[in-house]
Amino acid sequence: MAEIVRYTPDDRRAVEALYRRVFGADAAEASRLRWDWQYNRNPNNPSGKPVIWIAREGPTIVGQYATMPVRLQVHGTELDGSWGMDVMVAPERQRQGIGEVLFRTWDRHSGASLGLGLSPSSHRLFRKLRWPEPGPIPCLAKPLTRRALRRPHWPEPVNRLVSAITLPVVRVIARPRPLRAQVSLARRFDPEFTALWERLAPRFEFAVRRDAPYLNWKYIEAPHVRYSVAVLRRADTLHGYAVYRHVQEPRGRVTLLVDFLADPDDAAGFKSLLRWVDREARDADSDKIRTYCLHRAYRRLLKRSGYFQVRSTMQFTVKVNGISVPRTFYDDTSRWHVTLGDSDQDR
Ligand SMILES: CC(C)(COP(=O)(O)OP(=O)(O)OC[C@H]1O[C@@H](n2cnc3c(N)ncnc32)[C@H](O)[C@@H]1OP(=O)(O)O)[C@@H](O)C(=O)NCCC(=O)NCCS
Repeated sequence: MAEIVRYTPDDRRAVEALYRRVFGADAAEASRLRWDWQYNRNPNNPSGKPVIWIAREGPTIVGQYATMPVRLQVHGTELDGSWGMDVMVAPERQRQGIGEVLFRTWDRHSGASLGLGLSPSSHRLFRKLRWPEPGPIPCLAKPLTRRALRRPHWPEPVNRLVSAITLPVVRVIARPRPLRAQVSLARRFDPEFTALWERLAPRFEFAVRRDAPYLNWKYIEAPHVRYSVAVLRRADTLHGYAVYRHVQEPRGRVTLLVDFLADPDDAAGFKSLLRWVDREARDADSDKIRTYCLHRAYRRLLKRSGYFQVRSTMQFTVKVNGISVPRTFYDDTSRWHVTLGDSDQDR
């Protein structure tokens, strides 16, 4: 049976080779670009050593479970949590129990073990292990142009017809609206963002701690993507932020609203951030804006701002170990804040 040990720098080449075999050359190259940032520079990993579990058989590495340590606000307490990511087992050794041992080792060492955007095989394994599954994370989209509703599998005449019929509605939804508060761009997250998080944390039953060191690492220092950050202020006091970027997809141009924070009851403030993102998306010639959001109050405001809930495949699983939570904890996710920016989903 495989032995599970912590990763050491000597394992790097073997892990990269395994990654190429399991996920393919392109994904391996993308992972190599992110690797130092993702595993060595995470401010929530004070040891500075990557928290990666390795399955070893003699000299051969046959699996890994890599993790992203975070601080988590859970049921009124802050504790150490860990997003599991890039779990893999060598193809010839899959379905022989190695994945399960890796999952269990990771879980034994986490105050809360978290999984987002699961592959079909890991999703099945989480289910087999009977982990709570409060996902998927709802996906919401706001159309901005007639191209927003196109589908690649529809014939061109159907796409044209749908675009023509829906255009008047899309125009109403996408019309520019005035901002009701001061919104501007920021280059970095100053310490006042930590104060904002500390003020808002009690509003959430579940959320990753969004303090300034975490936000700078995640959205300013990431080597693989460039984000814009909009901040909301009233009388010089910080009230929220939104992180977004524009991407070209096969079906058109999309603005991704990756992460955001504001008091969920501050409807005017959150809507001002959304209107700013609308403007930026229009300036970038995007056909739509897409976001992922679990929190009910934010979702309600998104819908009032022209977003529609669409099918989501972003599966989500959580197991809290560090504190005892009531049985009903996993059933009511209305005050859980999880977005596309969580884990390493946006890559
Ligand atoms: C996910 C993964 C790490 C699981 O490792 P593993 O060693 O095969 O898992 P185990 O043998 O411990 O557990 C097997 C269980 O996992 C699930 N599973 C694993 N591979 C599966 C597959 N190809 N299809 C469906 N279910 C699968 C099933 O529940 C299976 O139970 P069963 O054999 O009784 O049906 C491995 O399948 C893998 O490397 N997959 C490719 C990479 C990947 O998708 N990683 C996840 C990224 S989020």
